[in-house]
Amino acid sequence: MQYFGGKQRISKSLSQYLNGQLKDNQPFVDLFCGSCNVISKINDNRLKIANDKHKYLMKMWKELQNGYELPNEISEEEYQYIKNHKEEDMCLTGFVGFGCSFAGKWFGGYARNKKGDNYCLRSKKSTMNKSKKMKTVVFCNEDYKDVKIPEGSMVYCDIPYLNTTQYCSREVGKFDHNEFYQWVRDNCSKYEIYVSEYECNKPEDFEIVWKTSSRKSIRDKNNTAVETVEVLLKYKN
Ligand SMILES: C[S@@+](CC[C@H](N)C(=O)[O-])C[C@H]1O[C@@H](n2cnc3c(N)ncnc32)[C@H](O)[C@@H]1O
Repeated sequence: MQYFGGKQRISKSLSQYLNGQLKDNQPFVDLFCGSCNVISKINDNRLKIANDKHKYLMKMWKELQNGYELPNEISEEEYQYIKNHKEEDMCLTGFVGFGCSFAGKWFGGYARNKKGDNYCLRSKKSTMNKSKKMKTVVFCNEDYKDVKIPEGSMVYCDIPYLNTTQYCSREVGKFDHNEFYQWVRDNCSKYEIYVSEYECNKPEDFEIVWKTSSRKSIRDKNNTAVETVEVLLKYKN
């Protein structure tokens, strides 16, 4: 499933790094799991918790664990109907809202191309593949500050990037980066916390422990396109 802001492209090397840092049986928490690109690649034999504030998305992951069958096709009319009746089948809404939308943006327009590719089927396959690897994952639908995290856990935080388009604000609210970094400082003695960000957004008191170049570019203050480097940050306590 394409997911705007998802870690699809770098999730293999990122999860390899995290797997290498994990201790035996150490619980793993993906606090902003989105389309679960990372947690679905984390080694088993531990408690794994996936959280996201997006209620439709988390309903989808939970229902898939219970055997929900996703559709092979969604017409544009069905897409519009689901968009206007989100509560009728929240699992389907979660899937269609991202998986059948342009660039994986929450109801950002019915995905199509000139070749007539079936985006729904493609999304279904990738979503089901991930779901099969997450049979024992505990899914939560909370604000990150309210998740009950076992002490000693590794906590991976793929927050919405600073200074980029905020999406799904109706579903998840506006993200307060200062409040989040303070939460990391306050909790770093209880959990081993890693934060994904662009290198240019790194707070002074955090250090880079892993990085990879990104093919994406963002606009700086002068509206010039600059190459982005995706990094993993840890608080220098
Ligand atoms: C960058 S995306 C995560 C992408 C994910 N790692 C992937 O590869 O698909 C950030 C996620 O944070 C979630 N989110 C935003 N604010 C949140 C909050 N206060 N608490 C929990 N989740 C939140 C959004 O719904 C979104 O799925």
